[in-house]
Amino acid sequence: MENPFKYGGIVRGPYFANRRNEMNELKREMLNLNRVFLVSPRRFGKTCLLFNLIEMLERETMACAYIDLNAFPDIKSFATALTGFTVRALETNKDKLLRMLAGFQKLRPKVSVDPDGNITAGLELAVAEKDALSALLEGLRHTEKLAAKKKKKLVIIIDEFSDLDKFNGQTIEKALRSEIQKQTHIGYIFSGSEQSTMLAMARDRTRAFYKLGRIMELGRTKDVITDPHHPYAQALIAAVPIPDPAYKRPIPKIKGEVAQPIDPPPGCRFQTRCLQVMDVCRDTQPQLKEVKPGHAVACHLY
Ligand SMILES: Nc1ncnc2c1ncn2[C@@H]1O[C@H](COP(=O)(O)OP(=O)(O)OP(=O)(O)O)[C@@H](O)[C@H]1O
Ligand code: SF4
Ligand SMILES: [Mg+2]
Repeated sequence: MENPFKYGGIVRGPYFANRRNEMNELKREMLNLNRVFLVSPRRFGKTCLLFNLIEMLERETMACAYIDLNAFPDIKSFATALTGFTVRALETNKDKLLRMLAGFQKLRPKVSVDPDGNITAGLELAVAEKDALSALLEGLRHTEKLAAKKKKKLVIIIDEFSDLDKFNGQTIEKALRSEIQKQTHIGYIFSGSEQSTMLAMARDRTRAFYKLGRIMELGRTKDVITDPHHPYAQALIAAVPIPDPAYKRPIPKIKGEVAQPIDPPPGCRFQTRCLQVMDVCRDTQPQLKEVKPGHAVACHLY
């Protein structure tokens, strides 16, 4: 019999389990071109979630570029890879791609032909490492213009984002924020396992990425099932069938209608269904708070 489980790599299709809510939530955020910080301890399934999300978004005809910051030792290699990936995600026609790459000032096209005659077009930095940051920004500006011209929505996913610290401290954060803020055709997911670094980036008011996007935390499935804190999670778990005819099902603590996803109310998205709703829930989106180690909840009750 074939083993129904796979472990150790990127899992897809039937091997990818249990992340439907997170996928739908990320999809909604990306269709709206928002910015999301995806945070969890190591091996909680962020990268698998992101690869499966890319397949889902591409089916929605969005363009996606994934980059793992861990693979790039300096800004120079990061700038060339990010620009190469984003431009290639938007332009698949090789001739147009080459013409476009030729228009860069600080990055120049590097074209190679493999033994089968396929052309691969990449970029290399035409300036010294000290100018790598401005090359990175040049690349991002081009990408935004190209997405606008093609009338395409682009999602840039930067995995191991907490590694940004290894470059030139907060200078790169400031530069990136100033460019990202101007963009209207690109959504971002910044994913990372260094929780304190990631949360400091998004929550510390002295940091450039402060409140740039919402924080989404991946929890361990077992914790959520055995000890749900959020009223919605409690209602879902209470509704799970128990194979015992004598068992009296509790009435789920839930009411009303699901909020419109295309026009969500301000404040908590669950407010229209929550029996414990308070005034603050109607206008302030709850932020994630750690209720016990590794288990965070976004709800004003905590
Ligand atoms: N939804 C899932 N269904 C089944 N298996 C999964 C799922 N998500 C992750 N896994 C398994 O867990 C392993 C770790 O997942 P993944 O590499 O995505 O975690 P990560 O949070 O990105 O870890 P790291 O922080 O180390 O990069 C994968 O190799 C895969 O085998
Ligand atoms: S924030 Fe308020 S409305 Fe939302 S789940 Fe918590 S109590 Fe309910
Ligand atoms: Mg990972």
